[in-house]
Amino acid sequence: MRISPDEAARLLANGHVVAVPTETVYGLAASLTQPKAVEAIFALKGRPANNPLIIHVASTSQLIPYVKSFPEGFERLAEAFWPGPMTIVLPVREEAVPEKVRAGLSTAAFRVPHHPLARELLQLAGPLVMPSANVSGRPSATSPEHVEGDFGIEFPVLDGGACERGLESTILIAKDGEWRVIRQGALPPEAFGEVLGYVPGVEAPNSKAPLCPGQLYRHYAPKAHLRLRDSFAEGMTGIVLGYSGRAYPPGLRVIALGTLSNAEEVAENLYRTLRLLDQEGIVEAWVDSDVPREGLWKTIIERLRDRKSVV
Ligand code: TXA
Ligand code: MG
Repeated sequence: MRISPDEAARLLANGHVVAVPTETVYGLAASLTQPKAVEAIFALKGRPANNPLIIHVASTSQLIPYVKSFPEGFERLAEAFWPGPMTIVLPVREEAVPEKVRAGLSTAAFRVPHHPLARELLQLAGPLVMPSANVSGRPSATSPEHVEGDFGIEFPVLDGGACERGLESTILIAKDGEWRVIRQGALPPEAFGEVLGYVPGVEAPNSKAPLCPGQLYRHYAPKAHLRLRDSFAEGMTGIVLGYSGRAYPPGLRVIALGTLSNAEEVAENLYRTLRLLDQEGIVEAWVDSDVPREGLWKTIIERLRDRKSVV
């Protein structure tokens, strides 16, 4: 059910959950001050209680009541990338952030989104917790249709059309005086180089000492088994997620992710394509991974890597 910003604000104030567009992916929103709605988010998504939520606010100054201390470099990052597809994990005043939201940790994740509808709603009804609007383990939703596919046609959705970025926000944390990327996303690590004076390293989830247990769950996956390959020989058959303008052997059915010269376009199409595989009942597909190993491509390939065997 498509709703207006005013209806969405009213539903949120009454303890309901609604879907909201952001520039990255759709979020499933609940008011930070409505414990029942926060619980409903975990139930709706089938999300484990030890996977914390991102708190979304309308402006950086709204973080002040929640945050214990701001690490060196925070202000420069916020100034340069908010509003936008960056999430920052900060130490919090535990009494100010509901335990369920932070899954019992002494930190919480924060973001100021850029999408005009998300901003309007945050002004009316924020702060809002917003995980991606998908059932846990499914690819994130990048259109109202995806949200309705996971939660039903009656589910309240603020309609912002297709998401511009198509990949989740990049998550940063300060550790031992240095910023690290703990989830690759819509902003590649290189993007932070100029502001920080160095390119933050990417931290793979550490199964022995995860920053939060939620990091270890399998994410962003279609049902199909995806197999990455750098080359495709004559005689190969099956389905390949490839690129328009590149030639593939005639036995392969090509589903184009976009153009090789345009990583942004491929990112925007990615989850729609993965959901298409599920809709068509496709159980396995090749992925053409012969792409530049830089910038946004690293996030794209990371999302396409089949992690069934990892978690
Ligand atoms: O682009 C996005 O970030 C979207 C839109 C809706 O804003 N949201 C999103 O939320 O992707 P979600 O819940 O699907 O992913 C949030 C990630 C999870 O992997 C969670 O484990 C991590 O953030 N996270 C949340 N709080 C954390 C914390 N205190 N420390 C480390 N990781 C945290
Ligand atoms: Mg998610």
